[in-house]
Amino acid sequence: MTTMSRSVHNFCAGPCVLPDEVLAELADELPNFDATGMSLIEMSHRSGDYDKVHHETLDLLRQLTSAPDDFSIMFIQGGASLQFAMLPMNVLPADRTAGYVVSGTWGKKALADAEKLGSAYSAWDGADGGYARMPTVDELDIKPGTSFLHVTSNETIGGIRMAEFADPGIPMLADMSSDYLSRPIPWDRFAVVYGGVQKNLGPAGMAVVFARTELLDSIPSGVPAYLSYNTHHKGDSLANTPPMFTIWATNKMLKWIKANGGLEAMDARSERRSGVIYDAIDSSNGFYRSPVDAASRSRMNIVFRLADEDLEAAFLTEADANGMKNLKGHRSVGGIRASVYNALPDASVDALAQFMSDFAASHG
Ligand SMILES: Cc1ncc(COP(=O)(O)O)c(C=O)c1O
Repeated sequence: MTTMSRSVHNFCAGPCVLPDEVLAELADELPNFDATGMSLIEMSHRSGDYDKVHHETLDLLRQLTSAPDDFSIMFIQGGASLQFAMLPMNVLPADRTAGYVVSGTWGKKALADAEKLGSAYSAWDGADGGYARMPTVDELDIKPGTSFLHVTSNETIGGIRMAEFADPGIPMLADMSSDYLSRPIPWDRFAVVYGGVQKNLGPAGMAVVFARTELLDSIPSGVPAYLSYNTHHKGDSLANTPPMFTIWATNKMLKWIKANGGLEAMDARSERRSGVIYDAIDSSNGFYRSPVDAASRSRMNIVFRLADEDLEAAFLTEADANGMKNLKGHRSVGGIRASVYNALPDASVDALAQFMSDFAASHG
């Protein structure tokens, strides 16, 4: 039995840390899957052994998220970035328009692709405020006749999240990449929910897309086969060779989420754990500061600055020497970013909070 003993705390924004148990199981089972004499990743994706893992993973996703039966669940390669293009191709035929909430880098990218592929416009843009908060429903400029509102539930780079999914009056399309399965999903608000799996759910290699099946009837016939949700829906995400390793690892991660209490528990846990780091910021007498509005603070990606920004390099070097890895903010914004995804151990959160306090005491 593989045992894991880690000497580092991994705050990477994605791909993310995975639980020791999940990695150990993968290591043990990788060479010889279920006494078949073969690795799962060497098998045909049409084999019974793989099929079981594949369908169990789809079932686990439905169970954990409580997605209603009228949502199709699809594994699609190409990550969330491909969904920025696939989504408008599939759900915005000529008679439909979508408003987009531009809450940061990811919302902006999603809108840029949608504008190329269908009728889409910005219903709110947080650029003037430095993308430091999410809008309220009252601030949205939704034009008459708009079919959908696209939102990014958590902006990974700016470190803001939609604290609640208030009803904008039309169904939402949501990129949930960086808080996927870390909180319950109120399905009645959504027409499509998508996200890459490489943050809260597994290794990189695919997006999981939930789409209302009624939308699949109006996909324009000109959409190329692989880019049509119908191909993946009708083919049970087995229309072509799926990313088998990613699906297998995601299967184990979903079981881990289930064993640890499901989405309600992940939600409570993320509130508590992000709170430990926000407390370290707020109680530092201004040594650290959060650049985002308190009501929009992300529970997944905690972004902060040092009052003396010249000290940030030393902070990162000393953190690294103390085993705290991948704390550098995104290259487009700088500063510090601690990503606290589902699988990050509590010990990592506590270690960072302690380090922040020690660093402030020695450099303050
Ligand atoms: C919110 C959000 N959307 C989309 C993406 C793009 O995801 P992918 O790398 O899976 O294409 C990312 C990646 O970090 C993200 O954080």
